[in-house]
Amino acid sequence: MSQSIDHVLQEHRRFPPPREFQSCARLSTEEAYQRMYRESLDDPEGFWGRIARELPWMQPFERVLDWSGAPFAKWFVGGRINASAVCLDQHAYGRRADQRAIVWEGEPGDTRTLTYAELHLEVSRFANVLKRRGVQKGDRVAIYMPMIPEAAMAMLACARIGAAHSVVFGGFSATALKERILDGGCTAVITADGGWRRGQILPLKPQVDEALEGVLGVHTVLVVRRTANRVTWNAGRDVWYHELAAEASTECAPEPMDSEDLLFLLYTSGSTGKPKGIVHTTGGYLVGAYLSTQFVFDLRDGDLFWCTADVGWITGHSYVVYGPLANGATILMYEGAPTTPTPGRFWEIVERHRVTIFYTAPTAIRTFMRLGDEVPAKSDLSSLRLLGSVGEPINPEAWMWYHRHIGRQRCPIVDTWWQTETGSIAITPLPGVTVTQPGSATRPFFGIDAAVVDDQGRELPPDQGGYLVIRRPWPSMLRGIWGNPDRYREGYWGKYQTMYFAGDGARRDASGYFWVLGRVDDVLNVAGHRLSTMEVESSLVSHAAVAEAAVVGRPDDVQGQAIVAFVTVVKGVEPGEALKEALKEHVAHEIGKLARPAEIRFTDALPKTRSGKIMRRLLRDVAAGVETTGDTSTIEDYALLARLRGDEE
Ligand code: WTA
Repeated sequence: MSQSIDHVLQEHRRFPPPREFQSCARLSTEEAYQRMYRESLDDPEGFWGRIARELPWMQPFERVLDWSGAPFAKWFVGGRINASAVCLDQHAYGRRADQRAIVWEGEPGDTRTLTYAELHLEVSRFANVLKRRGVQKGDRVAIYMPMIPEAAMAMLACARIGAAHSVVFGGFSATALKERILDGGCTAVITADGGWRRGQILPLKPQVDEALEGVLGVHTVLVVRRTANRVTWNAGRDVWYHELAAEASTECAPEPMDSEDLLFLLYTSGSTGKPKGIVHTTGGYLVGAYLSTQFVFDLRDGDLFWCTADVGWITGHSYVVYGPLANGATILMYEGAPTTPTPGRFWEIVERHRVTIFYTAPTAIRTFMRLGDEVPAKSDLSSLRLLGSVGEPINPEAWMWYHRHIGRQRCPIVDTWWQTETGSIAITPLPGVTVTQPGSATRPFFGIDAAVVDDQGRELPPDQGGYLVIRRPWPSMLRGIWGNPDRYREGYWGKYQTMYFAGDGARRDASGYFWVLGRVDDVLNVAGHRLSTMEVESSLVSHAAVAEAAVVGRPDDVQGQAIVAFVTVVKGVEPGEALKEALKEHVAHEIGKLARPAEIRFTDALPKTRSGKIMRRLLRDVAAGVETTGDTSTIEDYALLARLRGDEE
C-alpha cells in the first residue's frame, strides 16, 4: 500500500529578498547561510556550544549534549542559568537599561511602556511577592491572565525564583483550567480580575474560583487588578497583587537553575483525549528561542517586534517573551481583539507605534482578507520591514494578500513551521537570504535535520509527500510529557525510534524546500489517492468569492472518501447553488477532477481551536452525519457546531 501523499498544488511564484532589506540583513548571502547550516549539522556541539556561550551562564556547562538517555535529551549539561536573568539582568545593568522592553496597548486605548531597568525592577518585585506567599523553587504555578504586562512579568518572576509556570490561555473554560492545574500539580494561580475583549470585560476570576472547587493543593490565588470589576473573594487563599507589591522589595537575586531544570509546562491538546503537558527545560529552550529570534526576525537595534500571539500559546512564550527579551529587543503587546473598536485596529497600532516586525497567524490574515483591502489601506504601514506567519499552512492566496496589502511588496515574509514540542522555529526562510515561495516554509533552521520519509522511514525523493521528521535532537526540543514518559516515547518516537515525528505531512521539492501539507490525520483518501486537505482548501481560497475553506473526507462507497468543503464567502458575495457549481469546477480545473468536491456547504464561520486552527476532526463528524465523540473542550464557538449540523438552536 502506498503511504505517500500526492501533492497537487503547483506554485511557481518566487520572491527573492528585497535588495533594501538584504543590504543591512544579519545574514545576507547563500554562502553565509550554507556555512552556518553545515557547521550546525557537521559539528553540532561546537556550533551550539558557541551560541550558548553568548548567554550569561551562572556556571559554565561541561557538555553540550547528552543523548545517552534518548529520546530524553540533556543539553548544556552541568550549566547553571536563570531565564529571567538572561532576559532582564544582562540588559538592565548594561547599555539597554533605558531602552524600552515592553510597549503595551490595552484594548480601551490605554498604554504603558517599561524600560529594561523598570521591567527588571517589576519582575524582582513580583518574584518577592511570590516568595512571600510561599512559592518555592521547583513548584508549579498556573498563570491565567489577559495580555497585560503582568502576564509576562508573572512568567519571568516564576523563572526568577525557580518555579515553573504553566500558562493557560485566558479564553479557556474553568474545566480546562482545572484539568491543567491538577495535572501539573500547581500550588498557586496568578490571574486578574478581568481583561478587555471586544469592548467588554472578560472576567477571569469566576473561572478560577470554579476551577479550584474541591482542589486542595492550591494555597494562593494572586489577583492582578486590571478591569476593577467586582470579584468574589476567598479570604486566606486570594490576595491582591497590588497590595503585596506595595510592600515588596525590588531586589531579588535570580536562582541559579540547572540547565535541565523545568522552565515551564505548556498544555497542548492532543487530537483526542487528555491534553498533554509539554515539558520545556531551561538552558536548551533559551538557546533555541534566542538564536531563532535573532536570525529568523533579523533583529536590529531600534526594532519594534510585534508577535500577536497570546502568552497562552508557545508562540507567545518563545516570541513575545523569552526570545525577544533574551536578545534585548523591544516588544509590543496588545491586550484586545484585532477588530475592536474598528476593523483596522491592528494596522492603527502598527502606525501609532511604528512596528517594524509583525508576526501573526494565517487565521488572522484570512480574517483581514475577508474584511476588505480598504481596511489596511487606511494606515501608514511604512515602518514594517518584515512579516511572519505561524500556526498553520498559509494558503498561497493569503500569503499574496499579506505580501501586497500589509507588506506593500517591500517586506519579506517568513513562513515559520514549528510546534509547541519543538520550542522554537524549526523550518523557516531567513529573510535576508532565502528566496521565498507562497506556501513554503522553505528550509530547516540551524541544527534542524528535517526530512520527509515514507512509512518505513526511508527518505522520499523530491516532490513526494510523506511524513515530516527531525532526525536528531535540538536544544529547545521538548523533554517529555509531564507525568507520562511513555506517552512521550510512543507518541513522538514510536513510529521511527530514531527520528522525531509529530504528526505533520510534507513534501520537499527538488531545491530542498519543505511544503507542509498539514496534519497527517487530516489527509484525504479519494479513490486511492492521498490528498492534503490544505491543497484543496488553498485552491478554494484562490477563488475570489471565498474567504476561508475547510475540507474533509466523508465515507464514500465508491471512492473511499468523498470531499466535503465547508466554505465562508467574502463580504458582499451571495452564496447559492450557482456558486457551489462554480467552486467545484474551479477546484477540478486547478487541481484535477479527482479533487472535485462532492459537496460544498456554506457556513458563516468554521470551527476553530482557540489558537485559530481549523478543527477538521469535528467537521468530519458533521459531514458524515454522526455525533461528535471526541474532545470538544478547545473549540472556540460551541453554538457553531449546532449550526453546522443544522440543529435548532
Ligand atoms: C501547524 C505552533 C504549516 C503544524 C507554533 C504543527 C504549521 C502545528 C506552521 C503546531 C506553518 C505551525 N506551516 N503548518 N508555518 N506552523 N503549523 O503546537 O501542523 O500550536 O504541527 O505550535 O501547527 O501547532 P502548535
